[in-house]
Formats: sequence, structure tokens, C-alpha cells
Amino acid sequence: MMPLKKIFLILLCTSVTWSCTQNRTGTDRETEKKISRLISQMTLEEKIGQLNQISSSNTGMDERLAEAVENGQVGSILNEVDPSRVNAYQKIAVEGSRLGIPLIVGRDVIHGFKTIFPIPLGLAATFNPEVVEQGARIAAREATAAGVRWTFSPMLDIARDPRWGRIAEGFGEDTYLTSVMGEAMVKGYQGTDPSDPGSMAACVKHFAGYGAAEGGRDYNSTFIPERVLRNVYLPPFQKAVEAGALTLMTSFNDNNGVPSTGNTFLLRDVLRDEWNFSGFVVSDWSSVTEMIPHGFAEDPAHAAHLAIKAGVDMDMMSFAYLNHLSDLVKEGTISETLIDEAVRNILRVKFSLGLFENPYVDESLHKEVFYAPEHLELAKQTAAESVVLLKNDGTLPLDEKRIKTLLITGPMAHAAHDQLGTWVFDGEEGATITPLKAIRDAYGNSISILYEPALANSRDNDPSGIRKAVMAARRSDAVLVFAGEESILSGEAHCLANLDLMEGQSRLIEALKAVGKPVITIIMAGRPLTIEKETTWSNALLYAFHPGTMGGPALADLIFGHEIPSGKLPVTFPRSSGQIPLYYNHTRTGRPFQGNETLLKDIPPKAGQTSLGNTSFYLDLGAAPLFPFGFGLSYSAFAYTNITLDKVSYGKNEVIGLTFDLTNTGKYTATEIAQLYICDKTGSVTRPVRELKHFERITLDPGESKTVTWTLPVSMLAFRDLNMDLTVEPGHFELWVAGNSVSGDPVLFEVH
Ligand code: NOJ
Repeated sequence: MMPLKKIFLILLCTSVTWSCTQNRTGTDRETEKKISRLISQMTLEEKIGQLNQISSSNTGMDERLAEAVENGQVGSILNEVDPSRVNAYQKIAVEGSRLGIPLIVGRDVIHGFKTIFPIPLGLAATFNPEVVEQGARIAAREATAAGVRWTFSPMLDIARDPRWGRIAEGFGEDTYLTSVMGEAMVKGYQGTDPSDPGSMAACVKHFAGYGAAEGGRDYNSTFIPERVLRNVYLPPFQKAVEAGALTLMTSFNDNNGVPSTGNTFLLRDVLRDEWNFSGFVVSDWSSVTEMIPHGFAEDPAHAAHLAIKAGVDMDMMSFAYLNHLSDLVKEGTISETLIDEAVRNILRVKFSLGLFENPYVDESLHKEVFYAPEHLELAKQTAAESVVLLKNDGTLPLDEKRIKTLLITGPMAHAAHDQLGTWVFDGEEGATITPLKAIRDAYGNSISILYEPALANSRDNDPSGIRKAVMAARRSDAVLVFAGEESILSGEAHCLANLDLMEGQSRLIEALKAVGKPVITIIMAGRPLTIEKETTWSNALLYAFHPGTMGGPALADLIFGHEIPSGKLPVTFPRSSGQIPLYYNHTRTGRPFQGNETLLKDIPPKAGQTSLGNTSFYLDLGAAPLFPFGFGLSYSAFAYTNITLDKVSYGKNEVIGLTFDLTNTGKYTATEIAQLYICDKTGSVTRPVRELKHFERITLDPGESKTVTWTLPVSMLAFRDLNMDLTVEPGHFELWVAGNSVSGDPVLFEVH
């Protein structure tokens, strides 16, 4: 018998759903009735067909795929981006299959479709959800013009380990920043009306904990305790679900021994029961049958059983559902209602996207939509905002009038393919503007520009090119070195144990430094690299992640001062990969690092066991990062003063009001990303040293001062307490308003 509490909960949920006209997926009561009618007409095989997703070869009509569609064995196709073929498959589904249920066509549109925006880690560095939302909208306009109505994005995996190649695809290490950016992307993709033919369904992924892969090695197991899962890894997903994300993808990892694709706790208890998610869940590529090598499932039938029971609605490319669900139902291992539920979730999304009314794409639309001027313009602005200035001794910006000869060198100066970054299936090299081209176009008439690539690619070690670059540097007034990593060195399955800038590039920068001309290093990479030496050798250093189609013009503007850098780091930059994991919002130890510890070189011989003090640090490196989370310089400078709270003590339901003065103390009109951090001094469980709770981009003229007013609901201080309840615990707090995660003086307040 069902426990009373559960019956009550079901009644409550039903009444919540139907008291308002729509659920989270945007479908109403009438649509639910239509879905019920449809399900009642479907054979078991047709139902299972809806749960099956197949990849197209994207090279021509695939007769076997077409036949499967006609037989009602396919609910979704991924990777088909030819609009005429999308329409052809769709016509077979709508006009040729027995019940005429449309297909949903998916694709990895991760940071743009044709017009490529910076990689998501770069997007996060903008701290600008507006441009991120607009960029996602543009990606939707371009992808839908190819017939794609579903993107496998945003990736909301918190990543605290830059060795993990997929750190490039997410928004970094912070839960709040990732939540804000995830929400922006969902809104951009789905628009105000997902049934608009220019909108596509978002798919938040990978649920959950995938970024915590042990050792930063992709697909590896994770060991995230429930409290950390709920405090750190899950909130961005919850936010995206609340923003109306229509679909969600499971992750490849097993957490604490349970693969996500078979994880009932995640997919039913949290996602459906706690968050009321009403869209559908897709597995990751063959992750259903990968539960076999995980050692969790015996065989494909067992895997299908575990996945459907856990709450995976659609099977991406493992065919376990197609091949085994029918037998599992017939032999009574699973009930058909489990299948009906999954079909209902999928049909609900198809209705939300308006696919029943409007299944076809206008095949001529792409001509006016791909690379539209306003798309390129936004890509340029976003790229400019994503670049982080990490060092500047005054060399930047370059004064066009004072430079007669400029050397452009390094393997990333003219690497159209690589500056696009990872997960670019549809953006084209030919449409990409490199820094070399942009600088030549803009300044080629007034400045003599020398170009020596020095190295063929980011892994090249050949010294002959370096010698040529050094000779050219001697004839130049300044040197721009474009270094970093090729796009293939980050992304899925592309992890690195050593994060140092590749040896050839490091030698190039050192050799250029020895020439004595100002050296400006620009790094394009999919992750934080360990660049301590190269920072020392450079007069100025810009970190551009992989900036996308318009990276060249954006960097040209920044280098010559037509744009002022404003990006901030969305992730901590370690000095060495030996320090990893290294993230700003760690909990506190009983013996914290002080900063004045005796390091290796200063330890006297035969030093006594306790003579060095006992704190949490590395003898060879200390414990501080090279650059902290939130850090980024400007050509201008900013001062934070008069940080004032409206009270000293707040109730749990109150809102903290705070003001501060921000002054531009430099010479340029510039934008600062002001950040609000808090620390809960004592808790029933230990709390992080700092946590980001709010931020704002603020633009000021030279000398201008502005009083900024922010509010912070006390409820935002909540965390999972000792009993796993989401609670704000009374006590003392510190609050900082600052330009990064380690500066500023704390203001104290209390919660009663
Ligand atoms: C595997 C990746 O993990 C996932 O992120 C992607 O969306 C799917 N493949 C589909 O390409």
C-alpha cells in the first residue's frame, strides 16, 4: 500500500500542476489530454520507438534510418544539419509513419552554430548574462535555420580541475556564476516561446557531478558526498529547471558507485520529486550500455532495465531500449506505465516546441541567418568582454602612432581553426577572423607589420622558427606573441596531466623577452594553463580562452585600446598542476595557510621537525594560486570605498541592503565587475572561506564615482546543514565587495 505521505504529495503535486494552466514545460491541460489520447493509440513498439535516438551520418539520406523512422522506431535524430534532409526525415515521420509523430532533431550547439562565440569558459569570464543570453538566442536562430530544434547545451558541470578537458565547455568553478550563466543560456535558446520556430530546447548536462572526475581524467569516477553535491554541483541544474529547461542529459560518471544513467536518487527523487521537472531526460551517448563496463549492469537488457527504472526517458545511441524494453515489459520485469511515463515526457517537449503544428524548417532561411552582421557584431563584443588582462606594466594599450614596426608571432596568431575552440561542428574556418588578419586590416597602412609564426602549432618544438622570430623582434618596436593550445587539446576526453605552456612556446617567449623589446603575450586556450614563468617574461598578458569567429577583431581592439579589458577569471589559475584541486571557495582547515611559511629553498639543513610551523601548504609552492578566481585587470583602476550595510543584524526572511562607492581612478572609461562575497563564520558543518553571491558590471568614466546599491536576500545564505536541510543558520558572517575573490576588507553582520 502507498504510504499516506506519498499519496498526499501526489495529490499536492497534481493540484499544483493543474491549478495553474501550465506546467514547467509550458504545456496545458488540453495538451496533456492530447498526449494521453496519442499514447492510448500507440503500440508498445511505437512507444519504445519514441524513446530511441539515432545519429544521422549527416552526409546523405540514410535509407535504414528513413525506414526506422517510417516504422515508428525513432523519436529523435541527432547530428543532421542539412535542412532539406531534416525535412525529408520529418516528412517520413509526419506523413509516412502510422501516427505521424514528429521527430525532434538535436545537435551539440555549444557556443554558437555558425557564428562561434567564445568557449563557455570564456563566456563565463564576461560575467555578463545579457550577452550570453543574446548569444544563445543567435545560436538558436542559426541552428533552427538548419532544422535543429534541440541543443545539448548548456553544460553546467562545476569544474575545479583544469586538467579535465571539458572545463572549456562549462562556466568554471563557481556555483553561483554557473547558475546565472546557465539560466541565461536556457532563456536564450528557448526564448520566451519555445514553439517559435527560431527557438530550440535546451538540454542541461551532465547530470550530475561529471566535472569532479578523479584526477581530472574524463569519464572517471566521482566521489561527491550528498552535502557537497547539493551545495555545489546541483544548484545550477535546479536553476536551469526553474528557468524552464525542457530537457536534461545524464552524465558518464558514477558517483559513489552509482552511474548517473542508473541513478534513481538523482533522476527521480531530486529531479522529478523535489524540482518538479516535467521535460525529458536523455542519456549521454551510449551511457545506458556503458553501465556494463562500469560493472553496474550485466548486459544490455539489464542496462535498459536500470536506466528506465532510474528515469532516463530517451536512449542516445545505445539501442538498449529499442532492443530490450519490449521483452522486459512482456516478461513482466517492468511495467508498461514506466514506458508510458517516458513517452509522455518526450511528447510533452515535442508539443512545447510546436513540432506537431510546425514540423518543417524553411529551407531558404539559413541564407539570411548564418553569420548575419548583427551575429558577428555580438560575437565580437562577447569576445572582447571575455578576455582577461592578467598583467600590464603599462605597455598596453599600444599607441598606434608610436609603433612603427610590430612583430606578430606565435602559433595562435593565425590559427582560424584553433581559435574557435572545442565542440565546433558547424562553424567554419573560412568565416573566422584571426588576430593577424584583424591587425593587418586595421593597422596595416600605418604600421609595418612583420609576421613570423615561429612554431607550426602549439606543440611544435622546432627552434628554427624561434630564431627567425627573434631576428624580426630586433627590428620591431613591440612584439605580440599569440600562444596557447590548439582546440583539440581541450574538450571531451582531452585531458592533460601537465598544464604548462608547451615547451616550444615557452622558449619562444623567453627568447623574445631576451631581445629587450616590449613583449605582449596573448594566450588562447581551453583551460587555465600554468604560466608563471611566461607571465614574468611578458610585459603584458591577455588571456583570451578560445574566443571564436570574431576573436581577432576583438583582440585587435583590446591591444590598441579601442576596447578596455573587463573580463574576470571564472576559475582559479594554479601555479602548478601539483596544486590541483585549487579553488577559491574551499572550506577552512584548522591550520590555514598563512602566506609567510618557510619554503623549500629557505629550509635550513637538519631543521627540526616542528621548526617550520604546521599549516596547510606545499613546501615548494605555498598554497596561493597564480591568479585567484574573479581576478582581472583593466587599463584603468577602481577603488571600492564606504561599504555599508543597512543593519548589523538580520532575520532569516529579511533582505540585506548594502551600498558602496566605486571610483574609476584611472585614465580610461572602463567597466569593473564588482563582486559580492560572504563567509559564514561558524556552522553546523564547516563553510567555505568565501562564496560569490552577486556581481555587476559597472562602467565609469575617468574620475567618476558612483554609489552602488545592492540587495541580498538572507535566504541566499542557506546551505545544507548537518541534517541535509536547506537552512540559514543564525550567527556571524563576513561580507566583501571587491574586484576579485581574495581582496577587500570584510564587513561584519549577524543573522538572528
Ligand atoms: C557525448 C557528450 O558527453 C555530450 O556532451 C554530447 O552532447 C553527446 N556526446 C552528443 O554528442
